[in-house]
Amino acid sequence: MIGAAEAVEVTACDEAPGPGEILMDARGMKKRFGAGRSAVQVLDGVDLSIRRGEVLALLGPSGAGKSTLLHILAGLLEADSGEAFFEGAPLPIRASHRGWGLPLLRRAGIRHAGREKTSLVFQDPYAALSPHMRVRETVLEPLRARRGDRDDAERRTGEALRSVCLLPPELYLDRFPDRLSGGQRQRVAIARAVVTQPDLLLADEPTSMLDASAGVGILNLFRRLASGGMAILITIHDLATACYVADRLAVLSGGKVVEEGPPEAILKDPRHETTRSLVNAAAARYCKER
Ligand SMILES: Nc1ncnc2c1ncn2[C@@H]1O[C@H](COP(=O)(O)OP(=O)(O)O)[C@@H](O)[C@H]1O
Ligand SMILES: [Mg+2]
Repeated sequence: MIGAAEAVEVTACDEAPGPGEILMDARGMKKRFGAGRSAVQVLDGVDLSIRRGEVLALLGPSGAGKSTLLHILAGLLEADSGEAFFEGAPLPIRASHRGWGLPLLRRAGIRHAGREKTSLVFQDPYAALSPHMRVRETVLEPLRARRGDRDDAERRTGEALRSVCLLPPELYLDRFPDRLSGGQRQRVAIARAVVTQPDLLLADEPTSMLDASAGVGILNLFRRLASGGMAILITIHDLATACYVADRLAVLSGGKVVEEGPPEAILKDPRHETTRSLVNAAAARYCKER
């Protein structure tokens, strides 16, 4: 069911200004799963950068390695090789980084500036929220590990809910997820991701589990967050959705970024076979729906 907040927000969200300087830069990212004959080289030298205030859509068919790349950038998974930079400083993406593995970095609570400034939104808003936590506790949780008093955390929680158009926040703070629609759940998940005011938001197919109308509201929300200067890297398997939300597209295929550029240029002249098949699939869906 679509709530009133979603309906209002679709008309309230605006276009963003142009992107700024490079925020995150990943080079030669490689990742293989399994060993021997069953090994799969999922990422085979991915180069990707994102600018402040930019919405970059990482496109590719299912199994292309989109989630894998996002999880590496979020620090949930180690890369086999490659390097990444956040604001020009090296970002730990491998166990060998300064001799510390990522799990160890996490266990010891040793944080990296680039990680502190990055948040991840998962695909499934039903699995992402604990059914036993009220919206207030869910959104406030990332602030627990940080300095600041309870009043400040409460204020930032309210601000985060406002920034995702869950208005007024008081209406939602004491609800459990079962009292929220799918779109509202995803907004709460995004509020939790932005409560720490990250510079980079990673979103893994955040609309694929939502109905079309709730999905449009979430896409507009990303555009508005980017207009405030946040960089947003969003994985999408559908070209039409990517063109709607993104300033720039990057197509992942065979473990590499095979094509990138503004949506108009790619739609007009798709060069790689994978991009052409994404264009054809989007055109077929458009014709079928009319
Ligand atoms: N933890 C894992 N162990 C083994 N294989 C994995 C693991 N995670 C992903 N894969 C494989 O890596 C490939 C890419 O997966 P994924 O990054 O989820 O693709 P996408 O998000 O583009 O659909 C798939 O073939 C998937 O089965
Ligand atoms: Mg995925």
